[in-house]
Amino acid sequence: MATTVSAPSVTHQDRASTQRDETPRPADDSWRLIQITDSHLFAAADARLLDLNTRRSFAAVLALALEHAEPAAALVMTGDLVHDESAAGYAYLAQALGALGCPCFCIPGNHDRRGLMETWLGASAIESVAERRLGTWNLIFLDSTQPGKDGGQLTPRQVAQVETLLQRNPGPTLVFLHQHPIPVGSDWIDTIDVANGAELLAVCDRHPQVKAIVCGHIHQEFASVRRHYQILGTPSTCFQFMPGSPVFALDARTPGYRELRLHADGRLDSWVVRLAEYPEPLVYSTIGY
Ligand SMILES: [Fe+2]
Repeated sequence: MATTVSAPSVTHQDRASTQRDETPRPADDSWRLIQITDSHLFAAADARLLDLNTRRSFAAVLALALEHAEPAAALVMTGDLVHDESAAGYAYLAQALGALGCPCFCIPGNHDRRGLMETWLGASAIESVAERRLGTWNLIFLDSTQPGKDGGQLTPRQVAQVETLLQRNPGPTLVFLHQHPIPVGSDWIDTIDVANGAELLAVCDRHPQVKAIVCGHIHQEFASVRRHYQILGTPSTCFQFMPGSPVFALDARTPGYRELRLHADGRLDSWVVRLAEYPEPLVYSTIGY
């Protein structure tokens, strides 16, 4: 039976009231940002993808992130939020994020529907190119998705806007997008990266305040250093892809998320945190998803 839900009415005032222009300044002059990605949720609470209940897995990873002694100053979700692109899936996500009590920034992945994100997530659903502040840091968000395609592409306008934002503000900066801008060494997923990722890198190369480009999509931990910045990839909250595999393959490593520690002096520390075990046994598949 199809799940039906009513769309919330989001007014301009609602959106404005959920925006936070100031973030609390912690005692040690740093901000705790968490990245959660590729939740692949469904309308139905018992729905499975590759035989994994993605809602249960997402909830377990979110609970792990919230166990931390210090509350997060903000949360970023880097796409593939709702696999079946259903209103009920986004409604569930909105409820989960709404309970966190911190600003949330959500960008779409190839498995997402922007209109539903805007309807259900309100101000947390960011625009095609957006900049938000977190303490002394700037967070730039990019929608790298293309309709009907798994791979990403940035428009010339988006690339130009990133250049403009970086010219205007010299503060330490993180750039977030869904698809990976450089190959990660896995042939099958490197065919669906950001096709013109090199153009984004060229812009970031010119601006020393860029500390990292952070992506989702690859369902695995990834870290690379390029000039003055890092390129970071993060495990999914559900199943993991086998690093280095030329063809689709699952990895037994557990779901997780990324911690980002943004220091007021511009230093960035980041690491991945994983569940001790899957919320339920992982069933391997070699056919893709
Ligand atoms: Fe994904």
